[in-house]
Amino acid sequence: MAESMKGLKRTHRCTEVSNKNVNETVTVMGWVQKSRNKGGIIFVDLRDRSGVLQVIFEEDKCGSESFAKAEKLRSEFVVAITGEVVMRAGGINQNLATGDIEVIAKDIRILSESETPPFPIEENSKTKEELRLKYRTLDLRRPDLQRNLILRSKVVSSIRNFLAEEGFLEIETPILNKSTPEGARDYLVPSRVHPGSFYALPQSPQIFKQLLMAAGYDRYYQVAKCFRDEDLRADRQPEFTQIDMELSFVDIEDVLDVNERLLAKIFKEAIDVDVELPIQRMTWREAMDRFGSDKPDIRFGMELTNVTDVVKDCEFVVFKGAIDNGGSVRGINAKGQGSMPRKKIDALVDFAKGYGAKGLAYIAIAEDGTWKSSFAKFMKDEEMTALIEKMDGQPGDLLLFAADRDKIVFSVLGALRCELADQLGLVSKDDFKFLWVTEFPVFEWSDEEERFQAMHHPFTMPMEEDLELLDTDMGKARAKAYDIVLNGVELGGGSVRIHQDDIQEKMFKLLGISDEVAHDLFGFLLTAFKYGVPPHAGLAFGLDRIIMLMTGADSIRDVIAFPKVKDASCLMSEAPGTVDEKQLEELCLKVEIPAKEEAE
Ligand code: AMO
Ligand code: AMP
Repeated sequence: MAESMKGLKRTHRCTEVSNKNVNETVTVMGWVQKSRNKGGIIFVDLRDRSGVLQVIFEEDKCGSESFAKAEKLRSEFVVAITGEVVMRAGGINQNLATGDIEVIAKDIRILSESETPPFPIEENSKTKEELRLKYRTLDLRRPDLQRNLILRSKVVSSIRNFLAEEGFLEIETPILNKSTPEGARDYLVPSRVHPGSFYALPQSPQIFKQLLMAAGYDRYYQVAKCFRDEDLRADRQPEFTQIDMELSFVDIEDVLDVNERLLAKIFKEAIDVDVELPIQRMTWREAMDRFGSDKPDIRFGMELTNVTDVVKDCEFVVFKGAIDNGGSVRGINAKGQGSMPRKKIDALVDFAKGYGAKGLAYIAIAEDGTWKSSFAKFMKDEEMTALIEKMDGQPGDLLLFAADRDKIVFSVLGALRCELADQLGLVSKDDFKFLWVTEFPVFEWSDEEERFQAMHHPFTMPMEEDLELLDTDMGKARAKAYDIVLNGVELGGGSVRIHQDDIQEKMFKLLGISDEVAHDLFGFLLTAFKYGVPPHAGLAFGLDRIIMLMTGADSIRDVIAFPKVKDASCLMSEAPGTVDEKQLEELCLKVEIPAKEEAE
């Protein structure tokens, strides 16, 4: 039977015991990592969240009753052990923080037994992620996950300390809301009291933090749970955590300044990385032109080159067609990859197709300066020479080209350069290259909706010098919006907000949001702004992403205690689930699931 804690007190966590405690009696508690019976002497590795400590049972030291209990121990039993700390008899174990000492047990209580776990609790587990997520409690006992979550906790406390010192107030905003216009699909919660009405879970506290500025709170922050029903990826979860903030009486510089210092502090405190301040800045336009991405990884080069001018008169229909349709031809130079086998190049073409490319044209330059190309037969010799020169193609280089609308060319080459950097081992996870991307466009054309949409959100202030463009060429107007990017990952973003009602009205109009709809959606914000609103600006970090990059984890699932998988379900609790008929009746809801469409 499991024993209780009655009269027992833990004196140390496992790795808090050290050679300073030699000859002292300590009581440690935790899980049995491993127990080996070497006949007359039992070695137990005891584990808690701090690490592992070796305990030894010898019958003449602990008595026959305790020895009998120790003989029963198996992995993941929970025990309390009292014993004396001694220097290790059998030599130092360099792999353990407590490797120079051991505890000679005097007494043991078995607090809980364990069935054989479905996988071993060990670092760098080879167990499939699905199985680990199903038994997440056991998975969370593994040292790597424990380290990640401990680091996460540490980072959140440093953020809180920093922001408090900077005069920010931590204020909670509601979870049950009306929809916020952040652009993803909402998670909805039906109202029982108002049948047919729904709350939306917040995609971010955006409107509320702006209201707090109107209310005079001046500097706000929140560790905010946000919910977005969007397609999941390694760095996207349906619920995630933002470090969300807003400041009054500020302009862009003030927001960037406080956030740079915040980043520098948390990277230093959490992982001892020095962030060089000020953080480098780049406009959105430059980021797209040079890296094909609004979140460029600047740890390596392989920048894009626009070769439209060089090939504009050629006969190659792929290039010509793209240019005639208003698109461009751009390339990247994979230095030293000229001898890449055909199979690998074909794989790159397939990769590019995954990003919407119709193909990927290449020139492979051999060490002797001769070259092979997928499109030479359509080009004149001098055109090829000019192209290679423009690309700075040297013997041994591989030149890759995409021709299409700019949007596709950027997305293809932007992704391709990162893929190549990965394959060629050009990047290290220990290299942290921060970048502010600024001057985002106010609007973004949506092919799906065939209209302009807000690139950030409808409350983002256009740059003062671009206000006139709103009337003449809205697609070109730039916003006072900024993203913070780390190693090709968007860590956070924000903007200066519109606090002038005439500009806000114009924005709604340009976005095709009628007065009526605007009032229906954000009437309470517009009303609040009628009674005196300070100029304000803010930013939100994705906390999960910060921790993912700090720990070098491959996915934010590894830094979230109970994450969801790709289809937004939880493999452990099996959420989401169906509900009782009675619950549905109370909510006046009827469920009708369309029959699966017949396979064509
Ligand atoms: P934005 O939509 O850019 O801005 O979100 C801010 C940051 O939140 C993180 N993030 C996510 N992390 C994990 N899973 C997701 N599904 C997910 N979606 C976003 C990213 C992102 O940079 N209200 C504005 C901020 C502002 O203007 O102040 C906002 O939410 O790291
Ligand atoms: P094709 O004549 O279709 O065989 O194309 C010749 C070469 O151009 C092949 O290497 C294709 O992969 C490449 N190609 C096709 N479409 C594009 C495109 N939109 N951009 C770049 N290269 C392309």
